[in-house]
Amino acid sequence: MIEPRLPARLRAVAALVPTAARRVADVGAGHGALSVHLSCRGAAVIAVESQTGPLAELRANLRSWDAASHVEVRHGDGLTALQPGEVDAVVVAGVGGGTALRIVAPSAAMQVRWLVLQCMQRGELVEPWLTSRRWTVLERRDVRDGRRTYPAWLVEVAA
Ligand SMILES: C[S@@+](CC[C@H](N)C(=O)[O-])C[C@H]1O[C@@H](n2cnc3c(N)ncnc32)[C@H](O)[C@@H]1O
Repeated sequence: MIEPRLPARLRAVAALVPTAARRVADVGAGHGALSVHLSCRGAAVIAVESQTGPLAELRANLRSWDAASHVEVRHGDGLTALQPGEVDAVVVAGVGGGTALRIVAPSAAMQVRWLVLQCMQRGELVEPWLTSRRWTVLERRDVRDGRRTYPAWLVEVAA
């Protein structure tokens, strides 16, 4: 596998994924660089993508990085692409706060233990929403990438 270089934003996201998470879903995987990075680290990765354009780019990138047989690709909407108990951690990066929270809302029912969230905008929605569910922020990082700062969180989902 060829490991693509990650921007600072995604390096921070990858660093928040617990090494104990052996099965990880990268939801809204887009280009797939983060999925490949996590796979190179030894995790079993499912890359979920809902849109056909990014899905085609994802598949082409995985082929070009020799990663198509290492990262499983699923076409679907958020966690509906997964079975309950199938992954330990879900990563949602590069989307708005509202989208990220809609995606991870069924995490407890899906028996997901950890979430790693990174928002491009509306990050202020995240912590009140997590608190209302008694889901615990284990770590927050504010990542400087270029001229912008992006918030990212590692969250433990309450059963
Ligand atoms: C801007 S890209 C981010 C790609 C990568 N995660 C990153 O952080 O660079 C956001 C991707 O999320 C996908 N997406 C948005 N909502 C989704 C959903 N409900 N389920 C799966 N994919 C979704 C979009 O199609 C898009 O490809």
